[in-house]
Parts: sequence; C-alpha cells; structure tokens
Amino acid sequence: MTQPQPLPLICTVAVIGAGAMGAGIAQVAASAGHNVWLLDTRPDAAAQAITGIRAQFHKMAAKGKLSAAQAQAAGERLHVAHQLADLADAGLVIEAIVENLPIKHTLFADLEKVVSTHCILASNTSSISITAIGAALRHPERVAGLHFFNPAPLMALVEVVSGLATRPDVADTLLATATAWGKTAVHAKSTPGFIVNRVARPYYGEALRVLHEGGADCATLDAVMREAGGFRMGPFELMDMIGLDVNYAVTCSVWQAYFNDPRYTPSLIQRELTDAGFLGKKSGRGFYDYSAGAEKPAPSTEAAQACPLKWQFVATRTPRRRWHSDLLPQQCHLPTVPAAMVASSKWVRWRCLSPMVVPPPAMPPNQKHPTPC
Ligand SMILES: NC(=O)c1ccc[n+]([C@@H]2O[C@H](COP(=O)([O-])OP(=O)(O)OC[C@H]3O[C@@H](n4cnc5c(N)ncnc54)[C@H](O)[C@@H]3O)[C@@H](O)[C@H]2O)c1
Repeated sequence: MTQPQPLPLICTVAVIGAGAMGAGIAQVAASAGHNVWLLDTRPDAAAQAITGIRAQFHKMAAKGKLSAAQAQAAGERLHVAHQLADLADAGLVIEAIVENLPIKHTLFADLEKVVSTHCILASNTSSISITAIGAALRHPERVAGLHFFNPAPLMALVEVVSGLATRPDVADTLLATATAWGKTAVHAKSTPGFIVNRVARPYYGEALRVLHEGGADCATLDAVMREAGGFRMGPFELMDMIGLDVNYAVTCSVWQAYFNDPRYTPSLIQRELTDAGFLGKKSGRGFYDYSAGAEKPAPSTEAAQACPLKWQFVATRTPRRRWHSDLLPQQCHLPTVPAAMVASSKWVRWRCLSPMVVPPPAMPPNQKHPTPC
C-alpha cells in the first residue's frame, strides 16, 4: 500500500478569511514552502495580515529560528487575493471565515465555479458539519475539515474531519499535508464539535454558569483553573483570545446539532457580550478590558465565605499541579500545607485528595473569611 503523500510544495494554497485563524494558517503554509493566496472581504484585511506574518518571520529570524534569507523567502510566498478568481490555480483552499453555515455554503458554491476539480476544499470550521457544508456542492467528495487551533503557528494539533461524502484519499492527503507542515494531525468524523471542541464545551459552559450564579468572578475562576487546574489559560482568558463571537457561535452550533441538549446550552452572558461587540482581545474588550493602561482584575478573595466545601492539599515531591502561593493562604484553609513551605517557595506543589468538609476557621473580627478553593 502506498503511503499518502502531502500536497506537493509546487501546489498553491489559498486561505479565505484573514482573521485570527486565516492569518495563522497562511503563516503555517508559507513557512512550509507553499505559495499562499490570502483573501478577505474586509478591505485591507489580507494585506494587513500579510504584513503581520512577515513581521513574525523577521522576529523568528532575529531569534535565530530562521535565517534572514528564509524569513525573506517565506514572506515573499504570501500574496493578497482580491477576488475568488485569483484562487483558480490553488491545489488546496482552506476556508476560515465566519462560523455560519449559509455563509460558508455560499462561499464554497462560488469557489467551486472557479477552482479545478482536483482542488481540495477544506474548512477550518470549529463545529459545523462537514457533511452539511459538502452537501450543497457538486463535488462533496473533495470537501473536508482541516481544523487548526488558535494560534495556528503554535498549536500542534490539527483535526482532519471527514464528512459522509469525503473521499478517504482526500482526508489522507490533508493528514499527510498537516504532518508535513509540522503538525500533529488526527482523523475525526464530522460529529458536532469534532473531538476537541466537543470535549472543551464544559470548560467554557460550566465556568459561565458559575459566573452567572455569582459563584466567583472571571479573574478568580481563571486563576483557579490556571494555577490549580494546570490549564495554560483560564476559560475567560481563553474565550477572550478565541473571540466571543466565534466561541458563542460554536456553542450555539454544537447545542443545536445535539438537538438542544441542555448540557451545551449557550450562556446569556456570552450572548450579551457578543451583541455589544465586546468580542475579546480582537475588539479590545471582552470579559477583560484590553485598552491601554487597563488593569487586569486580581482574583477575588471574597467569593466563598459561606462555602463549607474545602479541599485538602498535600505537598508532594511528584507534583502534577501547582498553586500560586500568593493565592493559597487566602483561598484555602490548608492545615496540611506547612506555612514555611508557602513562605519559602513561590509555587506550592500539591496533590488534591478528595473534597472534605472543613469548618470555617475563626476569623478575627476585622478580617474577612477566606475564599474557597
Ligand atoms: N478563533 C479561534 O480560536 C478558532 C479556532 C479554530 C477554528 N476557528 C474557526 O475558524 C473560522 C474563522 O475564525 P476566526 O477566529 O479567524 O474569525 P475572525 O472573525 O477573526 O476572522 C474571520 C475573517 O473572515 C472574513 N470573512 C467573513 N466572511 C468572508 C467571506 N465570505 N469571504 C472572505 N472573507 C470573509 C472576515 O472579514 C474576517 O476577517 C471560524 O469558522 C471559526 O469557527 C476559530
């Protein structure tokens, strides 16, 4: 059996949508050696994205990750497309536009009139059915998902998503291509949210529920998940980075695709922020304020005064999780963590045993109770 081959470097890659994802994917493809066309309906968006990517290449050269000649050559492989017709020669088109099925349908239907029948059509959709995207086309067998994660140049994983009509060799070529581009690629079927976005829904959804219920504020929830849970970013920081409009659209899409299963119910808080145009980092405001000089709120020490549920933490020599010691004394009653250890190291290493009921300690009258873990 012959090994699936990646798309030859001689083939041009087209990326449609020059937002957070499209720009990142264009960078990855150009780094790998392809000529890349970038198209966006927003005036100047593609040109601005290419300027940003070239700056990234030069930064990498300055850090010694690329030679100056490689950075220059990679930058020169990027081109602005002004209309779909410019993509006629592409061997692979990766769509990274708004997460909306009718809009994606229209784009792919127009695209099909322009590109050759050998061209693979891929969508970077986070959640929309690849089967449904392909269904509106004359050649659904060459349609697949090629789902990069944000930021695409840094995140290793790529999901190659097959719809019901996707030809296996198309999915195999995409998997080999993503691998040749330095990614770790996996095959997935076109189930709602595919693998990662399905599994990740509760991370956002439950955090939004706690926020809605007034259990804790964003900064506290983020700090807990980051510092104690070992996640690189808390749920609100992550939603701000992804874009609240994108994250909300994905949540709605997964919820609807599972026949309104209450586990995936979208949050009114997220809808309000999206309606207000508070989309996260890209608009300068989301759960947090990113305007110049804005201070990031500190984790609260108020939230859990009445909460009897406490966690027991035990220092361990084989840590898997860490808790920032600045948070520790206020947030937990920790009879088992030696005070000297808290004082002596920035990171207290701990192993979470099981939840247990700890009576709130007696507090001096002028002090507040600690917050929960
Ligand atoms: N943001 C994330 O973390 C993330 C991660 C993985 C996948 N995705 C998916 O990638 C896609 C794009 O997300 P994003 O975060 O880059 O969005 P974005 O809002 O940052 O960018 C989308 C871009 O598409 C352009 N656009 C919209 N309609 C267009 C059209 N018909 N033709 C050409 N350009 C058009 C917009 O002008 C915009 O520049 C979505 O399907 C999203 O679900 C997003």
